[in-house]
Amino acid sequence: MAQNKSYRFDTLAIHGGSQGKNPHNAVNPPIFMSSTFEFNDLDHAEDVFSFVSSDYVYTRGNNPTLRLFENKMTLLEGGEGAVAFASGMAAISSVLFSFLKPGDEVIVHRTVYGSSYNVVTKILPRYGVRFIFADLRNLDALQEKVTPKTRVIYFETPANPNLDIVDIAEICEIAHHKGIKVVVDNTFATPYLQKPLQLGADVVVHSATKYISGHGDAIGGVAVAKDPDYIMKLKFEYMCEFGGVMSPFNAWLLLRGLKTLGVRMRQHQFNAMEVAQYLNKHPRVEQVFYPGLPTFKGHEIAKKQMRGFGGMLSFEIKGDLEASKKVVNSLELCKLAVSLGDAETLVEHPAAMTHRGYPKEELNTFGFTDSIIRLSIGLEDVEDIIADLEQALAKI
Ligand SMILES: Cc1ncc(COP(=O)(O)O)c(C=O)c1O
Repeated sequence: MAQNKSYRFDTLAIHGGSQGKNPHNAVNPPIFMSSTFEFNDLDHAEDVFSFVSSDYVYTRGNNPTLRLFENKMTLLEGGEGAVAFASGMAAISSVLFSFLKPGDEVIVHRTVYGSSYNVVTKILPRYGVRFIFADLRNLDALQEKVTPKTRVIYFETPANPNLDIVDIAEICEIAHHKGIKVVVDNTFATPYLQKPLQLGADVVVHSATKYISGHGDAIGGVAVAKDPDYIMKLKFEYMCEFGGVMSPFNAWLLLRGLKTLGVRMRQHQFNAMEVAQYLNKHPRVEQVFYPGLPTFKGHEIAKKQMRGFGGMLSFEIKGDLEASKKVVNSLELCKLAVSLGDAETLVEHPAAMTHRGYPKEELNTFGFTDSIIRLSIGLEDVEDIIADLEQALAKI
């Protein structure tokens, strides 16, 4: 019954993906902390190894707690299968390796998370894969960069850290005419706000460490796709063989986080909109990057493809890098930390922290500066978040 896809998001986030009653009728699923699984006899082993039976072999290949997490993510993203990974980066790098071979090209949006930038610019070229950065907000520019060797277009929307919005359906239209795969990192939006597979994307990846966990207590990643054959290949040829498997304990924490994803996202984005409007009017603020502001470049596309604008925002203050550092160092409630999507409001300086692999002298071409401040707006009372920003901005 809980598999019924007609349930709405918040119901699926709680009940979806379950394969029936839990042992002892426990309402919450147990954590299967077992590395290996016993076979009844060699015929049973043969059935499991040849996928006639969906029983389990070994947790690096599959595990009941991981399967429940994968089933739930499949339903929430509207896919046909999912693979859980040890981290968001394990998911992203495995998906890229699964599509690319020497001689291929990957087109990447100008702004992506720092480690994704490093994989694309430092690791893939060692295996003969060429990367091309593009501003994917400009579809004409994309057309010029596509060649017969292009295999993948990879982007985040909203993008980290400048919240660039990329039109998923338009990119898929261009890509699929040419047989190019579209991979979307949906970490900032979550499936509650945006479903890239329904807009045409081939694969969605997440850092489940962020909003999916929601509590800053687990590292995890997941890839979801529409093609079940691809999911089998990703799981058994890449996740299982590279070995970047999620731990059952983390899968259980992420399942717990998913139950409240909708309710948390509604509050994150309510708070973020209030903070964005406050900063937008502040005399010491130069620019606010938040898709919910009507003046933001991607606002109309965000309205079309998202059902809310999310909990992430960035801003530039008037003044130099020192002034920006002063604001960050003066915050008291907002914690100076990387990561995002937690209950706590987190603040960071991308150029010095999450995105320090980007070349400092060329940051502008990637759409941000060395003084941009990123905020992951938490679930505190928004008046307290604003009061903290107010006292910090008053120090400059
Ligand atoms: C947009 C985005 N994608 C991927 C990642 C990587 O995820 P993880 O840290 O779980 O490997 C991050 C981490 O900050 C991120 O912000």
